[in-house]
Amino acid sequence: MTTFRIAPSILSADFARLGEEVRNVVAAGADIIHFDVMDNHYVPNLTIGPLVCAAIRPHVQVPIDVHLMVKPVDRLIPDFAKAGANIITFHPEASEHIDRTLQLIRDNGCKAGLVFNPGTPMHYLDHVMDKIDMILIMSVNPGFGGQSFIPEALTKIAYARKKIDESGRDIMLEVDGGIKIDNIAAAAAAGADTFVAGSAIFGQPDYKGVIDAMRAQLAT
Ligand code: DX5
Ligand code: ZN
Repeated sequence: MTTFRIAPSILSADFARLGEEVRNVVAAGADIIHFDVMDNHYVPNLTIGPLVCAAIRPHVQVPIDVHLMVKPVDRLIPDFAKAGANIITFHPEASEHIDRTLQLIRDNGCKAGLVFNPGTPMHYLDHVMDKIDMILIMSVNPGFGGQSFIPEALTKIAYARKKIDESGRDIMLEVDGGIKIDNIAAAAAAGADTFVAGSAIFGQPDYKGVIDAMRAQLAT
């Protein structure tokens, strides 16, 4: 049976009350905290770094999933590992040496993953599947919360699911962008098991209500 995980993106949380926000969303049933790092270079927005990751780390027991939207990638990896990250993903076209970056993440004691934008070809998976613990399919273009789900992502999720099943390895398949109660089942049917949701959860007051409703969709 598939283990489904809900990963709220703190990009849509209230940054003035971040410790309370992560505690509340975990109490509401979050399995993972999704942590979006943007550098105003690889993506046109600027967010948070290792200091903020270290600040929230004592507030939650669940894994912190650091999504690096930065270029270059490598020099931030040891800092995030020290700050308590459990999973670190990056965009392959932002790294000069994909295999080396994956290995660097693992050498720092974290799970490693590749992220695919809507227009990024999936062939970056070739030859590195043995170093991958997570595949993240973007269902929006990265940079901002609150965008609409791009349906073509379902084709890429299905492709990634096939590659994972063929590998025989235990690899998480995460989807990120525009996930709501009414489309999470379609993403799961395509093969996703880990669901990032920012505005759907933090954009309204009842975190538990939305997380429960998402889980109910996954149970049907
Ligand atoms: C976008 C980020 C997402 C974003 C998702 O670049 O990677 O994690 O926070 O937000 P929603 O769920 O609002 O699309
Ligand atoms: Zn993200």
